[in-house]
Amino acid sequence: MSGKFIVFEGVEGAGKTTQIELTAAWLQNQIDGDRAVAITREPGGTKIGRQIRQLLLDDPDECISYRTELLLYAADRAQHVEAKIKPHLELGDIVLCDRFTDSTIAYQGYGRGFDRDEIDRVNQLATGGLQSDLTFWLDLDVTLGLERVLLRGKLDRMERATIDFHQRVRQGYQELANVYPDRIVRLDANRSPAAIQMEIQSKLMVMKGIVTAVPIGET
Ligand code: TMP
Repeated sequence: MSGKFIVFEGVEGAGKTTQIELTAAWLQNQIDGDRAVAITREPGGTKIGRQIRQLLLDDPDECISYRTELLLYAADRAQHVEAKIKPHLELGDIVLCDRFTDSTIAYQGYGRGFDRDEIDRVNQLATGGLQSDLTFWLDLDVTLGLERVLLRGKLDRMERATIDFHQRVRQGYQELANVYPDRIVRLDANRSPAAIQMEIQSKLMVMKGIVTAVPIGET
């Protein structure tokens, strides 16, 4: 596959959406005209996925078992990989994705307490082994993030989980970043969107196969 798969991760309210939009706008001017930048997200990147997203997030009263929750995220991902991510990568596009497999490790693994081997097997089944080329982890204090989310409106089913749960999720991301330093880039999300975006751009500039090289003398 000739495209690039860039994922944005983080706890609630970390600012992923803003950074994905800024990154897409910047990338449009950096890449060849025959490649596209595709923005997508999990859960909810496909038509089926949008229905799964509703099941997962919209009904705070329905008691979804943790096992059902894990499998619904995986079902959303399986559809997303096959119907959207892989086709874009095969065309050589750059896919910017809001959350991927690390979310399942952080939320269902560290947050809900599923065993890591079990999560890895489910992720493998859903993705067929597809991994991000690079993941930006927007790291923010969970209370700050949840305050930002509250200002936007009502909390969804996951956002209503306890502070302890969200702390474990953040801890999960920290441990993943320690184990995969080449794939996961930690960004301090407690800064202005512009400062965070500058760091993202500088990482992407040095990543092979993203920004079109300008031949010397053609600036
Ligand atoms: P968001 O798209 O607004 O970030 O919300 C998605 C929610 O779903 C968020 O609380 C994180 C959660 N989630 C999981 O628990 N596991 C997963 O595998 C994914 C992709 C998301």
